[in-house]
Amino acid sequence: MAGSTPASQLLAAAKGLLPLAAARYSNFRVAAVIEDVSGGIHPGVNVESVSYGLTLCAERSALSGALARGVHAFRRLAVVSERLKPILPCGACRQVLLEYAPDLVIVVEGADGRPEEMPLRDLLPRPFTSLEATP
Ligand code: THU
Repeated sequence: MAGSTPASQLLAAAKGLLPLAAARYSNFRVAAVIEDVSGGIHPGVNVESVSYGLTLCAERSALSGALARGVHAFRRLAVVSERLKPILPCGACRQVLLEYAPDLVIVVEGADGRPEEMPLRDLLPRPFTSLEATP
């Protein structure tokens, strides 16, 4: 694929961001990068609030940063944490990612250290994506 970064490099880029995670309450650091269709890489980390429910996950943080740069077409999102292998996007992130990047491929680090790729669609079957009735 033109301009495509190897999955292992996407994971490495995400790992490099882990020290930037703002995980002051849980101390559970998560980082993500979202790759756009031109090969651009946009960073994200989890950002926690003392009002815990306001916490922003790394995946939505990466997506938000990319959208704020005017980027709207995405290929893959790699996500890593310090402790869990693999870590998969939570339900809220699956929902939001699917709305903005329906063809996204999620890249995670398998327990054996190798990259594992899966379509986001497989992680959220029968999604709610429209206010119009679907046939
Ligand atoms: N977290 C993420 O950033 N992404 C996930 O997919 C799961 C959870 C964050 C939210 C919170 O800051 C910490 O991990 C513990 O839940």
